[in-house]
Amino acid sequence: MIGIFDSGLGGLTVARAIMDALPGYDIVYFGDTARTPYGAKSASTVEKYAIEDTRLLLDRGAKIIVIACNSASSVATDSIMQQFHVPVFEVITPAVETAVSVTKTGAIGVIGTRATIASGIYEKKIIERRSDARVYSIACPLLVPLVEEGWMKKPETAMIIRKYLQPLKTKPIDALILGCTHYPILKNIIERKIRKTVRAIDSATVVAQSVKQHIESHSDTAAMLSTGGETRFFVSDVTEQFKKTAQMILNRNIRLEHISI
Ligand code: DGL
Repeated sequence: MIGIFDSGLGGLTVARAIMDALPGYDIVYFGDTARTPYGAKSASTVEKYAIEDTRLLLDRGAKIIVIACNSASSVATDSIMQQFHVPVFEVITPAVETAVSVTKTGAIGVIGTRATIASGIYEKKIIERRSDARVYSIACPLLVPLVEEGWMKKPETAMIIRKYLQPLKTKPIDALILGCTHYPILKNIIERKIRKTVRAIDSATVVAQSVKQHIESHSDTAAMLSTGGETRFFVSDVTEQFKKTAQMILNRNIRLEHISI
């Protein structure tokens, strides 16, 4: 099974992209809805939670791990790779590689939660690949709750996005990394609020492509993964609101199974 975890249900954007890229592969998802959000917590707390989430997925039959959560990918990838000897995918590197390959100006914008932006991981990985790049990062903490409230079409959401992106208007960026699970859902509005020449890079799609490429080029990994089309969605807390969020992201009803962590 492909194991995918997130702080909550935003990571279903990544699960959806993986299901589209790799139809038929069995998936086990864990959303830590009892302890969400991670983006407002300290790096050490997020790291501890992410390790527990990984263990839970491995106990449920996952053979590879996809860290769908940007905040967890930012601070916990190294520890997860050290502790667990399975292929681990995170959402930062594929987005960085795409941004570096498409930018002509060398100026790249990054938006994410406070935890992701405070980690400085995007800047570090961009500069490692292109030393003259300029990176402009902005924490956008209001966007996750707006998506979870289903406020995608409200004018207030468009206004808040415009305000967050305002400082980028005067910068010569031509790539903008949407560094959070929830932002693909706001992609259309974000694209309307930045210049037409800026390419918005959604980390869900690019991580799905990188998992696909890995599986296609590593027969040992492919052999470990089952392909009966089974999908299971575990969460650490179930509420009506979480069910609505899951339905909104996946565009269909799914059964959320409660599991204690
Ligand atoms: N999943 C988180 C991320 O991608 C967003 C929600 C949260 O803060 O927990 O950073």
